[in-house]
Amino acid sequence: MNIDELLPDNIKKLKPYVAGKTIAEVKKEYGLEKISKLASNENRLGCSSKVKEAVLESIKEIQDYPDPIAGKLRRAIADRNGVKESEVILAAGSESIISILCRTFFKHDENAITADATFVGFFVQTGVRGIELKKIPVTDDYRFDVDGILNAIDGKTKMVYLANPNNPTGTYLKSDEYRKLVDGIPENVLLIADEAYFEYAKEVDDFLSAMDYRKQNVIILRTFSKAFGLAGFRIGYAIADEKLITQMLKTKLTFEPTAPAQAAALAAYDDLDFLKKSTEVVKKGRERLYSFFEDHNIKYEKSISNSVMMILDSEEEAIDFTQEMLEQGVILRRINAFGLPQCVRITIGTPSEMDHFEESFKQIFKQ
Ligand SMILES: Cc1ncc(COP(=O)(O)O)c(C=O)c1O
Repeated sequence: MNIDELLPDNIKKLKPYVAGKTIAEVKKEYGLEKISKLASNENRLGCSSKVKEAVLESIKEIQDYPDPIAGKLRRAIADRNGVKESEVILAAGSESIISILCRTFFKHDENAITADATFVGFFVQTGVRGIELKKIPVTDDYRFDVDGILNAIDGKTKMVYLANPNNPTGTYLKSDEYRKLVDGIPENVLLIADEAYFEYAKEVDDFLSAMDYRKQNVIILRTFSKAFGLAGFRIGYAIADEKLITQMLKTKLTFEPTAPAQAAALAAYDDLDFLKKSTEVVKKGRERLYSFFEDHNIKYEKSISNSVMMILDSEEEAIDFTQEMLEQGVILRRINAFGLPQCVRITIGTPSEMDHFEESFKQIFKQ
């Protein structure tokens, strides 16, 4: 078998996903007891205590296929957002929704536009479909270049994808920039507003959710993986005009998300106290990290999500720093795959995990 002959060119170009090390692997490899996993923007508080019971209940019917439209959860999401149920679609994480978007809307020869430093999932899913992707450089302060993005739209552009707030930078489009973007995008081009970190961002004064300035061509993505703490279940959703949702339902894998994921998300969605606690821990943790970086003369970007990006002088420095922190039990994420090889992303953890980060950092830099 000649694997090269078997594959289309676009798949040959893709690289397999390299997962970060698990807590168990790091413990074993370095003989450590305490591990702080600050690598994947998960919720370090866990998830709502209500989730467990709901999931155990759902398992009583695990022999049956799940509700393909996740009706109960769809209704809850529609009600909270003041939209019709037919404007909501659920799938196995917002990454799955990105895949659905790529499967549903692109005709041969059409292109997509995004930034050069953003969520790698969009790079991958467009690559899987062989879609031409124009990556517009972020500005010197790691923000989206709205004019650059609008100028890149041509007669073959089908989609503009922006994560707002952005991952890995934590930066965001100010409300006037967002309005300018929406107004500047032609109506037959889709704007994908990925709001995976919405719950952390919503109280920021000049952050404007796409839900609050919505046109027919805007598709909003949200997830249960971050503030709700359900990354392991794989469940996320999109809100958009029902004409678009109807088409997306055609290409969704019929029975995603799973029944336990639907039950978990429904329970988590109701627990607003847990959500509040999660966002408060992140807010305090971000401020603490900014002060720490300032005290140690480390460059960083202010963030409105649950992670902060530190900016080192070179890729080598980023590699060494991440490795040395790993050896101390602090798992961080280099973001070369996201387009920023000299940067490292730190997920905001619990106060004790942030202590661990700071102590290990001081150990490495002998400060
Ligand atoms: C901007 C953004 N979108 C989507 C995702 C993926 O979320 P999900 O777990 O719902 O697939 C992530 C995860 O890191 C993200 O940062």
